[in-house]
Amino acid sequence: MLVLGIETSCDETAAALVEDGVTVRANVIGSQIDRHRPFGGVVPEIAARAHVDLLLPTLDRALVEAGATYRDVDAIAVTAGPGLIGSLLVGVAAAKALALAHDKPMIGVNHLEGHVCAAQLEFGLLQPPLVALIVSGGHTSLVLGDADGGLTTLGATLDDAAGEAFDKIARFIGLPYPGGPEIDRLAQQGDPDAVAFPRALAHDGTYDFSLSGLKTAVIRELRRRQAAGESIPLADIAASFQEALVEVAVAKTVAAANDHDVDTVLVAGGVAANSRLRERMGAACADAGLRFLAPTPLLCTDNGAMIAAAGWNRLMKGERSALDLSADPGLVLQGWSTP
Ligand code: KG4
Ligand code: ZN
Repeated sequence: MLVLGIETSCDETAAALVEDGVTVRANVIGSQIDRHRPFGGVVPEIAARAHVDLLLPTLDRALVEAGATYRDVDAIAVTAGPGLIGSLLVGVAAAKALALAHDKPMIGVNHLEGHVCAAQLEFGLLQPPLVALIVSGGHTSLVLGDADGGLTTLGATLDDAAGEAFDKIARFIGLPYPGGPEIDRLAQQGDPDAVAFPRALAHDGTYDFSLSGLKTAVIRELRRRQAAGESIPLADIAASFQEALVEVAVAKTVAAANDHDVDTVLVAGGVAANSRLRERMGAACADAGLRFLAPTPLLCTDNGAMIAAAGWNRLMKGERSALDLSADPGLVLQGWSTP
């Protein structure tokens, strides 16, 4: 079954064609980054307008890359939320129009479920139970997927999302948007133990996170050194910030897996592309005897293939969305979608 996946929840206009939920035939991302970069972050109104410009050419490119036409497409999966309302609406409207015009079934997909399902494109269909750390620009949560199709959010950030913390610190030190990959690169030359930044909620026994204090501590440290006329070793600051964030994320994820007797851990979302997170999570999982799944960075950041994969899982269970499907910026994660 060939599924067309459409993703427009934030600032990537993405379309992909995926066969049977696991084989990527095309995964095209029409990036809007140049339009947002002058503003240092995503501007929702610009994003929505850019999706209108970019979606049809992105869909065409995906079909050409897959050597397919709409006749070959068996179903359409689209991100229905959570995300920016203007951005979501463009994808949902396009999916409805295509479903109607080509008489294809359509399924609305939760963006976070899409991030989790990205792993099946690389490792094959997921075998719950598993624990997933979802870390992106807008979300930071730990979820438990159980074998019966239940999906429970074990904990989440109480303030900033992980990607938001990366992006805000990068912006403060003058690095371009998105800051996550920039900090990741810079940190590779730095000493992660140079500054002992706070590890909030590290030992509180919950699966929640708090990152705004860490962000403030980093900015305060930079200002203090600037005021004291000290040299500012940016690579050390970046590495120390990243270490504090990664350490808590890894400890909580491994604790969640142990506490729930789960032997598979996966990381999902844009920040799952972070090299230090992957390295330390991989090592901690190896020590704890856990299977660790980290999709290739291109599948971690927003893409259409993950939406096609999650959509296929639900289509295989007989689910369909009606043509009155609405975009929901606050869509809550419900149910587990392994077929
Ligand atoms: O999942 P995603 O593409 O979009 C959302 O759903 O938010 O995540 C984007 C976020 C941005 O904040 C970006 O800076 C961050 O992921 N990111 C990274 C890395 N690559 C992307 N953060 C840390 N290290 C990276 N290598
Ligand atoms: Zn995302």
